[in-house]
Amino acid sequence: MNILIVGTGYVGTTTGLIFCEHGHKITGLDLDERKIQVLKGGSLHFYEPGLQDLLKKHTQARNIIFTNNTEKAIKENDVIFICVGTPQGADGSADLTFVKNVAKSIGQHINRYKVIVTKSTVPVGTAEIVTSVIKENQKAPIPFDVVSNPEFLREGSALDDALHPDRIVIGTTSETARTIMRELYKDFHCPFVETQPKASEMIKYAANSFLALKISYINELARVCDKLSINVNDISKGIGLDQRIGPQFLKAGMGYGGSCFPKDVNALIHTAKQQGTPLSILEAVVKVNTEQPVYFIEKIKQALGGSLQNKTIAVLGLSFKANTDDTRESPSFILLDRLLEEQAIVKTHDPMVKSGASHQCMTIEETVTGADALVISTDWDDYKHLNWGRIKPLMKQPNIFDGRNMVDKERVKELGFYYIGVSNH
Ligand code: UDX
Repeated sequence: MNILIVGTGYVGTTTGLIFCEHGHKITGLDLDERKIQVLKGGSLHFYEPGLQDLLKKHTQARNIIFTNNTEKAIKENDVIFICVGTPQGADGSADLTFVKNVAKSIGQHINRYKVIVTKSTVPVGTAEIVTSVIKENQKAPIPFDVVSNPEFLREGSALDDALHPDRIVIGTTSETARTIMRELYKDFHCPFVETQPKASEMIKYAANSFLALKISYINELARVCDKLSINVNDISKGIGLDQRIGPQFLKAGMGYGGSCFPKDVNALIHTAKQQGTPLSILEAVVKVNTEQPVYFIEKIKQALGGSLQNKTIAVLGLSFKANTDDTRESPSFILLDRLLEEQAIVKTHDPMVKSGASHQCMTIEETVTGADALVISTDWDDYKHLNWGRIKPLMKQPNIFDGRNMVDKERVKELGFYYIGVSNH
């Protein structure tokens, strides 16, 4: 099949390359000339493990081409995946401007029957909006179908997630479109959920919000455990082994960040409010998540004598999680802002994010030199197995604040460090 992917971010590029692996011919369309040039050259404009090799393989084999010629791309392809961003609007709702622009272009250039698939995370009712916008912009009534097919991949493990999904959700009312989608995914061996577009759109929000809920639950529980000197990691293990609960997304830390959870939880809250049925449980999820970095900073402050003024704090990790250079909604920046507000002297490090800020250091050693405390804010493997024996003499005071509960606390304590994690007793 000839497939057009509109939007060449994490979701679009990964989806396109996965379809190449399954023998399809892909065109990647983006209005951002810079991104297209980089991709045409066989390079990624973002960091994602494993994706670079696949891009090289399929660009060389001409299984994937990149363009910014919208008209040609729409005319030459039969299935069009919309993978553009849906950023958060001022009121918390998802901003559909980019999705509507794509729909408008499809309406203007459609020349034969096509299946239009929304892969971007879009609010309930978007399939209907896309249908209307295409119809409004058509010169002649050429038939088409709109399908909701949400993507569940995670940054940092996008390739594996997209190659081996837990399920494929297909939301459409058209038998023709459903048959084409089944054909497209015929080599994927996972359960299929076939439903209405609205339900499919809701599944994506409900999934992300549920995972965010698990994180906020364990984070708030961690505060209670902290008071009771209980190790919250044991609680995660103890409840996660119950198959009805499951072990994933129960790691206490500094709160969730990224381009999806914060935005999607807010968008679902907004949708629910619009329907007059507020999702109070998700409002609590957001509240706990907003408080979590503040709670951790308070612990740092108390441990350092009640003030952070002129204290040198080494912050390890800027990305919102390991294995990505994405810093969107990263708890590390909430931490940084707060430390600067408290007049601390901040030094930062990240293996992938190069912020260009004056406080960013090239090496971990440089970052911790002269520090009164070291804070681990991103769960990069690099920070798990540090040579603590070498780190300690570099620091002014041997304080470790482990915002990801990832350091071997017994080992560092043996070496004479003072250690505080997130209820990691
Ligand atoms: C998420 C969803 O997992 C994915 O299905 C969807 O398609 C996009 O949104 P992503 O944002 O890439 O993926 O990252 P994810 O691995 O889900 O982590 C989100 C945030 O939660 C990160 O800040 C992470 O550090 C945090 N997290 C995750 C925890 O704090 N504890 C956990 O146990 C798991």
